[in-house]
Amino acid sequence: MEKENVSYVQIHNLNKSFAMKEGELKVLDNINIDIRKGEFICILGTSGCGKSTMLRMLAGLDTLYTGEVKVDGEEVKGPNPNIGMIFQESRLFPWMRVRDNIKFGIKKGVSKEEQAELIEKHIELVGLKGFEKSYPHQLSGGMQQRVSIARSLIGNPKILLLDEPFGALDALTRMNMQQETLRIWEKEQATMILVTHDIDEAIYLGSRIVILSSRPGKVKEIIDVDIERPRKRTSKEFAELRNYIYNGFFAGMDNE
Ligand SMILES: Nc1ncnc2c1ncn2[C@@H]1O[C@H](COP(=O)(O)OP(=O)(O)OP(=O)(O)O)[C@@H](O)[C@H]1O
Ligand SMILES: [Mg+2]
Repeated sequence: MEKENVSYVQIHNLNKSFAMKEGELKVLDNINIDIRKGEFICILGTSGCGKSTMLRMLAGLDTLYTGEVKVDGEEVKGPNPNIGMIFQESRLFPWMRVRDNIKFGIKKGVSKEEQAELIEKHIELVGLKGFEKSYPHQLSGGMQQRVSIARSLIGNPKILLLDEPFGALDALTRMNMQQETLRIWEKEQATMILVTHDIDEAIYLGSRIVILSSRPGKVKEIIDVDIERPRKRTSKEFAELRNYIYNGFFAGMDNE
């Protein structure tokens, strides 16, 4: 019972520096974020503020830091099948068909029949029916990214980390992918942590938005997004929050 109140992902007093020839480069400065199960957290910050560095720590890909990074009460010590990560570029195996790329994400010990069912389900989930036999180069960027999402989801991770997953896509495809990701989030009830430097993306997706300052990244504010879903980018509330975030944190950067 008590567990209900405990945060699912805990980032406490997290500090990270890289040792450089010229001395220490401080990248993350005393970060504190508590994330509840099933939340969609968007981490918003400018280029170089330490967003990817922080996600790598959550994924267990970098363990050289001070402070605490815990998932479900346990310290993250290395990569873990319960934590999936989607990178900016799709990172598919170019020599494997869609089906096999997705199959690659299945955990060990799953029977052949179950595997086939899982693959079918996930191809449908990301809307790629009919493309099972295609190779990555035969797909558009958005479709490739959907294969990546399916490959990550098929292992049934409890947490999905997304590092600017739609950064390379055109505006329309990007909006489609955002919608698709929300649909999957609602259906799978996963906890998602997405990094972006796009204010609209953060408002459209996030249950909460964590705003980081530029390097070293510090938490400037954590905003509850109280706009009802499905959210409309043209609505007044959306525009108000966009203005608040832009004026409060990013204005003045235009001329840099
Ligand atoms: N392995 C490394 N060694 C040294 N410095 C690094 C290393 N990785 C990242 N950095 C530095 O840490 C800072 C933060 O990098 P990071 O990739 O986390 O930024 P980011 O917020 O993800 O930026 P972007 O939005 O451009 O992806 C940058 O100044 C970068 O040069
Ligand atoms: Mg990055």
